[in-house]
Amino acid sequence: MDRHVPVIAIDGPSASGKGTVAQKVAQHLHFHYLDSGALYRLVGEAARYAHVSTSDEPQVARLAETLNARFDNDNIYLNQKNVTDAIRSEAAGKAASEVAALPLVRQALLLRQRGFRTKPGLVADGRDMGSVVFPDAMLKIYLTADPAARAARRYKQLIGKGMSANMAALLQDIKARDDRDSGRAIAPLHKSSDAILLDTTNLSIDDAVEQVLARYAAATQVP
Ligand code: C5P
Repeated sequence: MDRHVPVIAIDGPSASGKGTVAQKVAQHLHFHYLDSGALYRLVGEAARYAHVSTSDEPQVARLAETLNARFDNDNIYLNQKNVTDAIRSEAAGKAASEVAALPLVRQALLLRQRGFRTKPGLVADGRDMGSVVFPDAMLKIYLTADPAARAARRYKQLIGKGMSANMAALLQDIKARDDRDSGRAIAPLHKSSDAILLDTTNLSIDDAVEQVLARYAAATQVP
């Protein structure tokens, strides 16, 4: 890890649009992109394949340490198997948030995440990018939107991928995941005091991207 490599940390709750915003910001700046949620989703999926319970901390941590994952453009592979769509299901999201509450799993993924910090820069999205993984990030954004707006976005996303979805169930899942992510003892989801709040309830993705880029430009300006 090179501490001189700039990091933009974008944290926030599930379905807030942070993944899309982070990816677009990374593309614009020609930076690398880390989807840290995908790592937790992969660990959940690895546990499912191995028939390991998501509450069996030592076993799940072992899977996290030895995770054979590959990010290749828009595709994600687990043990050479393309799991890009499989890890996006609501069930995979639930499993991810269960394994993410285990301290040994978070510890196992810490160095792997920091390894993404390479030149010319990194945009990282997740829950604890600014607070734990990259506390020295030069720009920290907390991206959020109200739960109904997030459920509607997730609905559109799933339907667009040809998957089935139910609005009421999605809203319930989002609220349950918010509670689990904010209420856990380790690296809980919260806006840290040095993060800039960006509420996207009434903002398009492009507007949000523009705001992040403007903040980045301001942060890099020599006084
Ligand atoms: O962002 P995404 O919805 O893909 O993340 C899936 C789950 O992984 C989250 O609900 C959260 O529990 C966990 N996660 C985390 N820390 C991160 C990223 C994701 O705990 N940095």
